[in-house]
Amino acid sequence: MARNAHKHAASATHWIALATCMALLGAALFVDFRWAYSSSSFSSSPPSATSAFLSLASNWALEKSGIIVFPDLGSRNESGDQLQEVRAQEDRGPGSDAKEKRDQGPDAKEKRDRGPDRFLSATYADLPAPDMKWEEMPPAPVPRLDGAAIQIDNLLYVFSGYRTLDHVHSHVDVFNFTSNTWGGRFDTPKDMANSHLGMATDGRYVYIVSGQYGPQCRGPVAHTFILDTKTKKWDKMPPLPAPRYAPATQLWRGRLHVMGGGKENRHTPALEHWSIAVKDGKVLEKEWRTEVPIPRGGPHRACVVVDDKLYVIGGQEGDFMAKPGSPIFKCSRRHEVVYGDVYMLDAGMKWKVLPPMPKPDSHIEFSWVVVNNSIIITGGTTEKHPINKRMILVGEVFRFDLDTLKWTVIGKLPYRIKTTIAGFWDGWLYFTSGQRDRGPDNPQPKMVVGDMWRTKLRL
Ligand SMILES: *[C@@H]1O[C@H](CO)[C@@H](O)[C@H](O)[C@H]1NC(C)=O
Ligand SMILES: *[C@@H]1O[C@H](CO)[C@@H](O)[C@H](O)[C@H]1NC(C)=O
Ligand SMILES: *[C@@H]1O[C@H](CO)[C@@H](O)[C@H](O)[C@H]1NC(C)=O
Repeated sequence: MARNAHKHAASATHWIALATCMALLGAALFVDFRWAYSSSSFSSSPPSATSAFLSLASNWALEKSGIIVFPDLGSRNESGDQLQEVRAQEDRGPGSDAKEKRDQGPDAKEKRDRGPDRFLSATYADLPAPDMKWEEMPPAPVPRLDGAAIQIDNLLYVFSGYRTLDHVHSHVDVFNFTSNTWGGRFDTPKDMANSHLGMATDGRYVYIVSGQYGPQCRGPVAHTFILDTKTKKWDKMPPLPAPRYAPATQLWRGRLHVMGGGKENRHTPALEHWSIAVKDGKVLEKEWRTEVPIPRGGPHRACVVVDDKLYVIGGQEGDFMAKPGSPIFKCSRRHEVVYGDVYMLDAGMKWKVLPPMPKPDSHIEFSWVVVNNSIIITGGTTEKHPINKRMILVGEVFRFDLDTLKWTVIGKLPYRIKTTIAGFWDGWLYFTSGQRDRGPDNPQPKMVVGDMWRTKLRL
């Protein structure tokens, strides 16, 4: 009896599903049209408008909100798509017993009964996260996407990045954590790349490698630089053996290490790993040395050294490429796969695989800080939506405890956002800049912002 009632309800759901589907198709067409026409999809609102989002600060992750119905696209199979669909609703955290439920649980049964319709919330990838109280700080002088950053004591040096797809910055803005003000702008060298740079510091000198020179989807260059943050003087280093796009870069054991990233076309993952000895802003060798290749290549990863160990976290394989023959190197989307992998190198110089992030996460090269032997990561991008194929931004704050090698989700940002620039000072976790989502129910990227926020962090 109860079963029959259930069946009945299920077929009613079918009709609702079908109607919703038609409405959504219409909406999707409309959105595509707007996307094609709206140049604002890559631009920012003026900083003043951003305060309107304050009210959204703590409620974007509406659990299971806006369940969306999609028609079967004919691509599903048991091991692939359907599994992903079930995981969407059940696998909401590390260490859960979701795998078992996935195979046997009542939801799985219901899905089999339901036939060809597929239910998957646009926000399905959001993980449950405790609220964090964020305070809005003065926004950066310019919005930026894919910028770079280095924190030295109470100063955060924020480098270049895109303003829009057609315009890139070539200067540094400095945030002072003591006065909580921006200032001290200075220019980067004419031939330094504008985005997707690799960067590391020894506490005074900033070592800068490669990156993308110019707007849209131009390729990377091999140029390298050293900045003395005391004198604001720039110097050159030997160029990388080959150009790299968003390579993992860090100073470790007296050497500047550069690994992974994308090759010249922005898309092909590079496995190569090079290093060169540096000290106090001087390069001690003539050439880059070849090191043990990284197990998985690709751009947009966090690269962190803590306690004499080097960690490479997250990232992706593949990226947008220039449209063949386009004189402006117009960006065109290509297949990409996002990872949550963690690789670690210690004195043994052999890569070790550590527990992966709670979900795949990319565009996090400057989105991390180290606090009390934990790596904290803010935002990013995760795997594309399996049905509508849209890019999905990440709004969680992750913690990797290096004592226990356990990942946790310790909070959420005011919104989902990629290529954030994170800093930590005096008990406060800060983040600024990047490309944020379209709203609490829509995790796709939209505005490039310069907003800055902070929250009290207690681990
Ligand atoms: C099912 O999907 C997975 C993941 O996309 C794929 O690797 C596998 O080959 C597919 N199997 C069939 C039978 O199509
Ligand atoms: C940062 O701000 C503090 C407090 O106002 C000030 O004393 C310090 O000189 C500033 N640092 C720089 C480099 O401007
Ligand atoms: C880090 O550890 C110290 C010592 O246990 C503690 O006083 C401090 O509050 C911790 N910092 C954070 C951000 O949790």
